[in-house]
Amino acid sequence: MSAPRIHVSDDPAATVAEILADAARAGGSIVLTGGRTAGAAYARAAVLEPDWSHARVWWGDERCVPPDDERSNYLLAERTLFSALTARPATQRIPGELGPVAGAAAYAALLPDDPYDLVLLGLGTDSHIASLFPVSPQLAERDRRVAGGPAGLEPYVDRITLTLPELLRARRIVVLATGAEKAPAVARSFRQAPSERYPGSLLQSGEADLDVIVDRAAHGDL
Ligand code: 6PG
Repeated sequence: MSAPRIHVSDDPAATVAEILADAARAGGSIVLTGGRTAGAAYARAAVLEPDWSHARVWWGDERCVPPDDERSNYLLAERTLFSALTARPATQRIPGELGPVAGAAAYAALLPDDPYDLVLLGLGTDSHIASLFPVSPQLAERDRRVAGGPAGLEPYVDRITLTLPELLRARRIVVLATGAEKAPAVARSFRQAPSERYPGSLLQSGEADLDVIVDRAAHGDL
């Protein structure tokens, strides 16, 4: 079991940007997330460390859309991070355009054997992480490294996601959550015992270092 360390930051995107820049500088294997909160961190990470040539990058989840679709998590990283770098990392994107079944199989073949140095995750208001939604078959998957299926909330396009055992292979997991609407999810995920109803809470069941970066609102202080 891994006890979560909750860090309250006045500027969570800056805190996560430093973590990302350090990992890129060290030539780490990094798993990126989607979501609006992450984009701000990516843009600032590119300023802190513009040379990502030694890093290797994967994604924790993707929407089943082509990489140039506005809903693509790859496009989010391309726009906010990669396009601002002087040297890009090696990337293995999730081929969402293949659909949830073929895309999941194709992505599984691209995953590394060694543990990820850093997995970055957002947290949904329903406590989902990556595209592991509460009480879903994807969340219950224990044998495969990647799973595909419907989304639990908007945008309602199918998703492809690393499974919980695959996320837990990380050396370090960092969860980023901001805004008062995330406070209940933060409390249910990281101040209570693990439960299938709150996917974020299941991150406690592994051995990875688990850091949760929140602002005061997501911490429940406001
Ligand atoms: C996605 C995700 C998802 C996201 C959370 C939080 O593709 O949507 O990877 O897990 O991180 O939904 O998203 P926000 O930061 O936008 O609230």
